[in-house]
Amino acid sequence: MPAMVMSNAGPGGAKKFEGKITIYVVICGIIAATGGLMFGYDIGISGGVTSMDDFLEEFFPAVFERKHKAKEDNYCKFDNQNLQLFTSSLYLAALVASFVASKICTKHGRKLTMQAASIFFLVGVILNAAAVNIAMLIIGRILLGVGVGFANQAVPLFLSEIAPVHVRGALNILFQLDVTIGIFVANIVNYLVSNIHPWGWRLALGLAGVPAMMLCLGSMVIAETRTSLIEREMLMEGLAMLKKIRGTDNVDAEYEEILHACEMARQVKQPFKNLMKRSSRPQLVIAIVMQVFQQFTGINAIMFYAPVLFQTIGFKNDASLLSAVITGIVNVLSTVVSVVLVDKVGRRFLLLEACGQMLITQVAIGGILLVNLKATNELGHGVAVWVVVLVCLFVSSFAWSWGPLGWLIPSETFPLATRTAGYAFAVSSNMLFTFVIAQAFLSMMCHLRAGIFFFFGAWIVVMGLFVIFLLPETKNVPIDEMTEKVWKQHWFWKRFMDEEEDKKHSV
Ligand code: BGC
Repeated sequence: MPAMVMSNAGPGGAKKFEGKITIYVVICGIIAATGGLMFGYDIGISGGVTSMDDFLEEFFPAVFERKHKAKEDNYCKFDNQNLQLFTSSLYLAALVASFVASKICTKHGRKLTMQAASIFFLVGVILNAAAVNIAMLIIGRILLGVGVGFANQAVPLFLSEIAPVHVRGALNILFQLDVTIGIFVANIVNYLVSNIHPWGWRLALGLAGVPAMMLCLGSMVIAETRTSLIEREMLMEGLAMLKKIRGTDNVDAEYEEILHACEMARQVKQPFKNLMKRSSRPQLVIAIVMQVFQQFTGINAIMFYAPVLFQTIGFKNDASLLSAVITGIVNVLSTVVSVVLVDKVGRRFLLLEACGQMLITQVAIGGILLVNLKATNELGHGVAVWVVVLVCLFVSSFAWSWGPLGWLIPSETFPLATRTAGYAFAVSSNMLFTFVIAQAFLSMMCHLRAGIFFFFGAWIVVMGLFVIFLLPETKNVPIDEMTEKVWKQHWFWKRFMDEEEDKKHSV
């Protein structure tokens, strides 16, 4: 039975989009989402590798020495700018790459952008696995970053564009699901290779080639999105693709709507300039803010540095990697919760619930460490177990909310005319703030100590207020009707949508 989705056609009355969840759309979604595996594997692997002795001894001997000095300050032993630069150089490269990727996405399509992503990433993997000096490591990571920038730009857009409206959230979250699977697999790899001396770290970095190969081969067989085909004036192919992914010939209403969106998009010669107009402000602000807030949950303090963090609070090497594996499983399973719920309970509900859960857990972790972890002692076993439990509760709430929705919401709110350009701002904001946190976290921990958890807790309060007052619900709204149905209806954002005002401000 095809699912019928009601969607008002505006003043003219109501129309229906017919679309079932075809096997084809699911396969395309699963393949494209492997772009998330590359991103996730990398997030998980860098923290693991940077806590492996063989790796530290070869590239960061100063950190290696400090780590092994018995009485080194608990909160400061990993604080080293070069070590942080290894983790974070990728994100700077991805930041710049996402703007280039946005142009390629518009001109040559989402599919080609994904292919390019996998190739950059593969070359980066080879350099990293074969590295004999820091330069090879950093250049390799920059290429990985270009791959991630391209993939993170193209994949979520691809998923949102191929999805039938009533499962758009679920299909888009396949990307984040793959991110979490990537992190989880990386955590297991970290754990297994940490006992392979002295080249375990090379294996860990080299295995990043597997998801890249998957995306490279997979993206040869998937279809381009109907929107991108029609946008590039391949009308017949676009219509045929729409029929194929929807599994029905009755696609006229949706086709008409895409044509209309493309028509509007074509009138916009410079999408980036157009983004600066008043009427683009709501989507732009939301896209950027969702990503900035996603990073200020503090998630990557945990994801990148989980093994380092657990060592800091007194776990031994293996135990800390194992704890990171546990948080990895929680991350994957909780993302599945989001896939199931996002199109039912809506985006706002998930985000707000998570704000509550994250606030409580951050404050509790901070409180426990404040009381129990001094500069040179170790946490008792019982207390350490509590910290792991709290970290898991924190990760689970992130995983069904700010994690996936940070990517989903910006991919579905822009009109086609500014979609790829606007989305590039979302990707680059993610990368910029991931960089900031990656670069600053170890030093912040050294200075703020347990207070770092209160710092993130304060951000979570701000995020909750933002959702309550300024984030509209986008569940079940067709992607090309957001302006009419969402922005023009919102108590605050509607003031930006007045076309006359827009003209006045753009002269
Ligand atoms: C974020 C990453 C984070 C990951 C954790 C992603 O959505 O962008 O920064 O590490 O989720 O699962």
